[in-house]
Amino acid sequence: MKNLSAAAPRRVTICEVGPRDGLQNESVPISTEDKIRFCDLLSDAGVPILEATSFVSPKAVPQMADADEVFRRIRKDPDRTYLVLVPNERGLDRAIDAGVRAIAVFTAATESFAKANIGMTIDESVATFGKVVKRAKADGMWVRAAVSTAFGCPFEGAVDPAGVARVCARLLALGVDELSVADTIGVGTPNQVFDVVAALAPIVPADKLGLHFHDTRGTALANTLAALECGVRIYDTSAGGLGGCPFAPGATGNCATEDVLYMLEGMGIETGVDLAKLRAASRFIAGKLGRSPVSRAYTALEAADARTARLAATGS
Ligand code: COA
Ligand code: ZN
Repeated sequence: MKNLSAAAPRRVTICEVGPRDGLQNESVPISTEDKIRFCDLLSDAGVPILEATSFVSPKAVPQMADADEVFRRIRKDPDRTYLVLVPNERGLDRAIDAGVRAIAVFTAATESFAKANIGMTIDESVATFGKVVKRAKADGMWVRAAVSTAFGCPFEGAVDPAGVARVCARLLALGVDELSVADTIGVGTPNQVFDVVAALAPIVPADKLGLHFHDTRGTALANTLAALECGVRIYDTSAGGLGGCPFAPGATGNCATEDVLYMLEGMGIETGVDLAKLRAASRFIAGKLGRSPVSRAYTALEAADARTARLAATGS
């Protein structure tokens, strides 16, 4: 590819996190039916990994209280991974009961955020996940581990990439299959992406490294491009740009799936995801939330379609 480094991938894997990272931050109650429909529309769009819900404490995240029913009833296409967040063994028990085959455990690169998000120190979280991952792997599950606040912390500020690498090494040692290294509060800039990926390179195999950007300060797509230059092949994105973390003050949505797909399509990088069908999922959930998606590509493509439809209707 002329316009990217030789390390850049020709195909990337999208992990769609809208139903979890997106909806968890919404105060508008979304019905179980609507969550299921949203997930099924995302399956229709062909997302290879769908983070469908989380089996966390309903006191911590009320919007995810119906995780069991949502997961049971979403359509599971055989060639896709339906992922759920699990914070502890209780969450794993619930997930197993609901028929889950892929889980994500999650900790942070900073102590204050781990405490705020899961009520544990990083050490305690690794000890808890040790048991969770062991049971999940023994049961043949696919296991991901997410590391929040890897590019900055709402409580501690700057984060040393070497510290991120140490947490990642401990999670890999538990036997997880993939990592999702997150800019939870959307403070990162492309130079930081180079620094974090360089710090992780000796520790995390390229096929196990995923990145998760929030667009709070408008840098998520630039960070994605920087990561492509470094050869990163797995990206968490959310339909319409939904999202945020209730435990990260001021954090807004993830990098929008439509924006990433539009950019990747233009660059000739394959994802296997159908952008028009993805927009249908965003349109559906936007109607339930009562506001338009923040995704720039979504907005532009919807407007272009509306124009075309108007022209067709007037016969001109
Ligand atoms: N599913 C359902 N309920 C759970 C649960 C789970 N996985 N884990 C704990 N609970 C319940 C307990 O039964 C207890 O209920 P009770 O008060 O009725 O007895 C209550 O939650 C508190 O349990 P405790 O073990 O004391 O945990 P805690 O209060 O320290 O909370 C977590 C720890 C990890 C369960 C909680 O912080 C959490 O769910 N965090 C997730 C946050 C999140 O999803 N963030 C977004 C992702 S980035
Ligand atoms: Zn996130």
